[in-house]
Amino acid sequence: MRRPLPRTLRGQLTAGLVALLALACLAVGITTALALRGFLIGRLDEQLAASGGRFAASLEHEARPDADNRPDTRGQAERTFGARLLNGTTTQAAVVHEATVRTVRLTAADRRALADVPMDGHGHSLHLSALGTYRVTAVEGDDQDVMITGLPLHPVEETVHRLEGVEAGLFGVALLATGVAGALWVRISLRPLQRVTARAAEVAGLPLASGEIAMPGPLPDADPRTEVGKLGSALNHMLGHVEDALTRRHTSEERLRHFAADASHELRTPVANIRGHAELALRHRGPVPAEVRHALERIGGESQRMTRLVDDLLLLARLDAGRPLEHEPLDLTLLILNATDDARAAAPGHRWLLDLPEEPVSVTGDAHRLQQAIGNLLANARTHTPPGTEVTVTLGRAEHMVRVDVVDNGPGIPADLLPEVFGRFVRADVARSRTTGSTGLGLAIVHAVVTAHGGTATVTSAPGRTAFRLTLPARVPESDDGIDPGHAPPPTNS
Ligand SMILES: Nc1ncnc2c1ncn2[C@@H]1O[C@H](COP(=O)(O)OP(=O)(O)OP(=O)(O)O)[C@@H](O)[C@H]1O
Ligand SMILES: [Mg+2]
Repeated sequence: MRRPLPRTLRGQLTAGLVALLALACLAVGITTALALRGFLIGRLDEQLAASGGRFAASLEHEARPDADNRPDTRGQAERTFGARLLNGTTTQAAVVHEATVRTVRLTAADRRALADVPMDGHGHSLHLSALGTYRVTAVEGDDQDVMITGLPLHPVEETVHRLEGVEAGLFGVALLATGVAGALWVRISLRPLQRVTARAAEVAGLPLASGEIAMPGPLPDADPRTEVGKLGSALNHMLGHVEDALTRRHTSEERLRHFAADASHELRTPVANIRGHAELALRHRGPVPAEVRHALERIGGESQRMTRLVDDLLLLARLDAGRPLEHEPLDLTLLILNATDDARAAAPGHRWLLDLPEEPVSVTGDAHRLQQAIGNLLANARTHTPPGTEVTVTLGRAEHMVRVDVVDNGPGIPADLLPEVFGRFVRADVARSRTTGSTGLGLAIVHAVVTAHGGTATVTSAPGRTAFRLTLPARVPESDDGIDPGHAPPPTNS
């Protein structure tokens, strides 16, 4: 199974650090062990060279047990090995054991190996089945024989193994310490990066779509000499640009809002004047030619429509600017009763049904604007459906909210229009709207008014059933805080 690499930069850096140190330790370990082994074998070779074939030569007399000619173990280290070869055949082989000489039993392989030792006076490693690994040298004796002397390699191997053990322990501790210290160090080094990430996440969480946005300040330690500092200073730059752009956008939005509000406000008086003059002219006592009367009536009608349009635009501009609405307790039941009565009077051909709860339902808000919003829904149910359509208005409560449902069984809102039906100047039949007087602002006002009250406006529509639902915070009896504080109390100067 493959072990996955650590995912985090911190993990990768720490793992990399430890892996590199492990490689370095391995290299140092191998080099020192090889060097020590070489040095110790060199020492053995020197020892062998110094002793020459003396011990091996003395074996020649081993067979004769008289005191003078006994094999010479003096000055020979314990476990020194000696062998004498004559014409490639081992004649004697012995080892020093506790200052005496012991014959070594050789196997055929041992004999072959001894015969193969080059007679160059240098040390060669050799394995003897009875004794283990030895370092041996071969020299030529006096009577055409070969003298082989050997010293055990065992102490060398042991020393090297001991060094390896000590090194493994030391390196293990060093690796562990490096892992822990490295992880801490990397963590501390990357701390500024965490700050950059946190700041970026903070900005990403801001509602940048509209309005005035309070951007977080620049990162403090953006030292451009370090990589993380460079990133931080780039982020600071970017945040600066974004803040600049957002401020500009906000200013331009504000300017546009003010323009729309001012323009609608300024238009009100001349439009009212046009309408007044048209009505005055119509009241002229003398004879007025029919076409002039018709024209005056058209002027009156159009200026009336324009007044409505200007009023709607002004209301939207004010709601956009967050201008406060009235904040009074009001009886929604009564408001709906009145609005439905008006609708019934305006469209007696429709069937108007009411479903109101027994107890009165009240909310806190602007009665005039809420009446306008509900009136707009009823006007739609009246104007965008054929006579005979059934319209049901239901008022209900759900927990802390009040629900107003206006449902009709008319032809429904075209599917392509539905997602943006609460938008401004959105209407189905733009060409026909000129004659019907439809502006496409009705639902935009519904949405803006309800939102300003801290509520929501939603719609579902299919042929045969169109349902608008408004939710508003229910009035809390003792305190009047049902409305979004942004639109809290008085005074409106419309
Ligand atoms: N009950 C409904 N049945 C079918 N279509 C509807 C209904 N309500 C709204 N619509 C569609 O949604 C469009 C937008 O409605 P909205 O009230 O915003 O504008 P309008 O009624 O066209 O004009 P205004 O209300 O400003 O006089 C309408 O033009 C109409 O096509
Ligand atoms: Mg409408």
